[in-house]
Amino acid sequence: MGIVASTPEMIQLAAGLLKQGELVAFPTETVYGLGADAANSEAVAAIFKVKGRPANHPVIVHVGNLDSLEFWARDISHTAFQLAQSFWPGPLTLILRRTDRVPDRVTGGQETLGLRIPSHPVALQLLKVFGGGVAAPSANHFGRISPTTAQHVQAELGQLVPLILDGGASQVGLESTIIDVTKDKVRILRPGGIDVLAIAEVVGYMPELVSKPEVRVSGNLESHYAPATPMYLVSPSELTTVPEGCGVLTFGRSPDNAGVWVQMPQQAEVYGQRLYAVLRDLDSLGLDCILVEHVPDAPQWLAVRDRLRRASSGVKKGMPEFKNKMV
Ligand code: TXA
Ligand code: MG
Repeated sequence: MGIVASTPEMIQLAAGLLKQGELVAFPTETVYGLGADAANSEAVAAIFKVKGRPANHPVIVHVGNLDSLEFWARDISHTAFQLAQSFWPGPLTLILRRTDRVPDRVTGGQETLGLRIPSHPVALQLLKVFGGGVAAPSANHFGRISPTTAQHVQAELGQLVPLILDGGASQVGLESTIIDVTKDKVRILRPGGIDVLAIAEVVGYMPELVSKPEVRVSGNLESHYAPATPMYLVSPSELTTVPEGCGVLTFGRSPDNAGVWVQMPQQAEVYGQRLYAVLRDLDSLGLDCILVEHVPDAPQWLAVRDRLRRASSGVKKGMPEFKNKMV
């Protein structure tokens, strides 16, 4: 069926497919997810197959309301509840201790579970009609750019997913913030849709940002969220001589010279909302490289900086190396 409009009938159909152990791609406010019934081990296994994701990487379980929290998680701390109440539904994933009801496939055999209530109305409606938890990673091939539209999902996974619910472009555009709330002090495992300063306000201190968690977080592999085209982070002064065949993401105006220039927004949220779609577009042009102007070093830019760094890792940063590479 491919992409369908998210009418009540189609949401009903999607929930029915999930019940039968099929996969359904659906919109969330962060990125599109590839969903399966979280209680059905075989259905969850199919997600890994479609994505080409290593089996020991855990997936997030999406639920429709707080009532089911204790079905999935135990020993939930006061702080965890405060965070849930402050940011759910929304782009926050809490890492909690799991109950015995959670299939091993979901957690990659770990004792913890990622849980989130998304805020996209289509996701919430799907979860409500389905009634259970939906295990869903981003609906892209392992290591690639997350999809922020139904068309991106189709381009990525096409025939492999029977149904893609269309919910328009994701409003946040970057994945959820992942917070480990299983220890005394909360820690951020992946910066994302929620500002760290807002989290600090709720918990009362600035949480540590864990760059290499002991648990397997695929989004924390050094190279992830990456276009196929080699990507380099550069300073504005390095953009004076852009080679033909390169794409450029910049805050400035495009000069009259070579390359495909995209002027990016000055606000972190808008930049984050558009980033993956822009990278995906540039990636489809068969360019030699993508040059991205450094973004500000302020806290609001944390998630964008994190994704840019990972998308460009595995290659040397900066134009001098790039020039060497070209000759
Ligand atoms: O915004 C999002 O979080 C999107 C939408 C679809 O909800 N989902 C998403 O899922 O980004 P995924 O699988 O692409 O990335 C989830 C990250 C992975 O890096 C995974 O390793 C980590 O969450 N994760 C899941 N469960 C975990 C756990 N128990 N402990 C540590 N990390 C976990
Ligand atoms: Mg992902």
